[in-house]
Amino acid sequence: MRIILASDHAGYGLKTEIASFLSGRGFDVVDAGCGPGESVDYVDYAAKAAAALVRGDRDRDRAILFCGTGMGMALAANKFKGVRATPCWTVFTAEMSRKHNDANCLTLGGRVLTPAEAEAIVAVWLETSFEGGRHLRRVDKIRRLEDEHFK
Ligand code: RB5
Repeated sequence: MRIILASDHAGYGLKTEIASFLSGRGFDVVDAGCGPGESVDYVDYAAKAAAALVRGDRDRDRAILFCGTGMGMALAANKFKGVRATPCWTVFTAEMSRKHNDANCLTLGGRVLTPAEAEAIVAVWLETSFEGGRHLRRVDKIRRLEDEHFK
């Protein structure tokens, strides 16, 4: 699985922790920025990662984005057709975002989570499958909303 990472300055530290965590577990990690010591706008890095995610392989690629809270990154990434980004602050929300929402983009808050909390969230998010069934019907309706409203 390829994991596309991106952050702003407020998420940079947590991103580096999670990058090591993922590399150590054999994931193919790609960092779309930002670099250390920059003060940047989260929107620009959400856009880089989301563009790479929608251009990539739907079955193989995921994105994990980091800002202060996880919220700005989710708002921006969700403007890309095909991205389902959810901020998760707990293991339970991460699990449900995969099982029920088929989230392909996880957003995390560098000012909210400790590295250990984030690692637990990321681990569950990566190992949990979408349940399909009635949840597929609902995700398909999200796709239809994209077609109707995101011209
Ligand atoms: C940056 O100060 C902060 O606003 C940003 O990282 C993020 O939390 C926005 O949602």
